[in-house]
Amino acid sequence: MSAIEVRHLYKTFKQKGETVEALKDISFTVEKGDIYGIIGMSGAGKSTLVRCFNYLEKPTSGEVYVDGKELGSLKEKELRAERGKIAMIFQHFNLLMQKNVLDNVCFPMQIQKKKKSEARERALELLRTVGLEEKAAAYPSQLSGGQKQRVAIARALACDPKILLCDEATSALDPQTTASILELLKDINRQFGITIVIITHQMSVIREICSHVAIVEKGCLVESGTVEEIFAHPKSRAARDIILRDQPEGGAAGISGSWQGEHRQKERLAADKKIRIVFSENSAFEPVIANMVLKFGTPVNILRADTKNVAGVAKGEMILGLPHEEALQIEMQNYLKEKGLEIEEVTEDVE
Ligand SMILES: Nc1ncnc2c1ncn2[C@@H]1O[C@H](COP(=O)(O)OP(=O)(O)OP(=O)(O)O)[C@@H](O)[C@H]1O
Ligand SMILES: [Mg+2]
Repeated sequence: MSAIEVRHLYKTFKQKGETVEALKDISFTVEKGDIYGIIGMSGAGKSTLVRCFNYLEKPTSGEVYVDGKELGSLKEKELRAERGKIAMIFQHFNLLMQKNVLDNVCFPMQIQKKKKSEARERALELLRTVGLEEKAAAYPSQLSGGQKQRVAIARALACDPKILLCDEATSALDPQTTASILELLKDINRQFGITIVIITHQMSVIREICSHVAIVEKGCLVESGTVEEIFAHPKSRAARDIILRDQPEGGAAGISGSWQGEHRQKERLAADKKIRIVFSENSAFEPVIANMVLKFGTPVNILRADTKNVAGVAKGEMILGLPHEEALQIEMQNYLKEKGLEIEEVTEDVE
């Protein structure tokens, strides 16, 4: 049985009267134990495709099979169970800034109601796996980018996933750190037999660790196969372009440099929606957020949490980064309002 199989997948976004066909008739298979790369230009549909793998994005039509089960046919509870087998890491790590490294790794186990002592033990073991045991008490702000990604990887492994999805996980890292993170992913693949899907815009990443690759262009799958096959005999223009662009450092720097520059800028523009929650002394906001994460089966990013003493009353605010999907953003905001929390949209950058 394959790890992931998608059949005739379409995803259309409708927003403000505009229609975007993000995915058009995509079919391919990721076998168990593969390290499968997905490459393409900014806006090609890579993130949307991978988000369909765990139904964070519901396809407009077509099927997604995970471990032989068609996700569209599952009841909510079964879907949540299947999603639990799929972990994800991101370009900007998405760690909880107010929690230390150990608590970040414990967080998913806490949501699963695992016993605290067991969760701690497992978290320490995972931190050993990623080579960061001595940083257990440190806060994310005290770590380098590579170390933050290691923590994110440890957290992703906490629920024993069968599949790990990596969305531009090394795009914010320098080449050396990228190499060490790729090495770690390779180890995890070998040691635990976890199937890995890697989204990237760098052919060097594909070349470094992937067994297979799919090339996505304007929502279509233009080519897929083993990495050797595609490198040796690229059939599509897109594949030839990508291989050509993938010059060693200093090579066609002008081309790849501007491509990546454009990519980063788009990434910033598309930053997740942020909301501010204001609470006073008695509102139990933390369990509300934990329950929301549990209910929607989707993580949110706590970008800031502050409490202030205003005229003798504890007042606080928390800034949350909501997931990309608009429908989910609306549902989450409604959920928070229902629970009596005041929310407002944040437009400025949060560091
Ligand atoms: N929630 C959404 N609502 C409307 N349009 C969306 C949404 N998510 C993605 N899109 C659109 O779908 C297309 C594919 O986007 P996607 O984020 O999957 O691209 P990508 O290949 O991951 O790009 P990048 O390399 O920049 O991350 C883009 O045109 C994008 O604007
Ligand atoms: Mg993307």
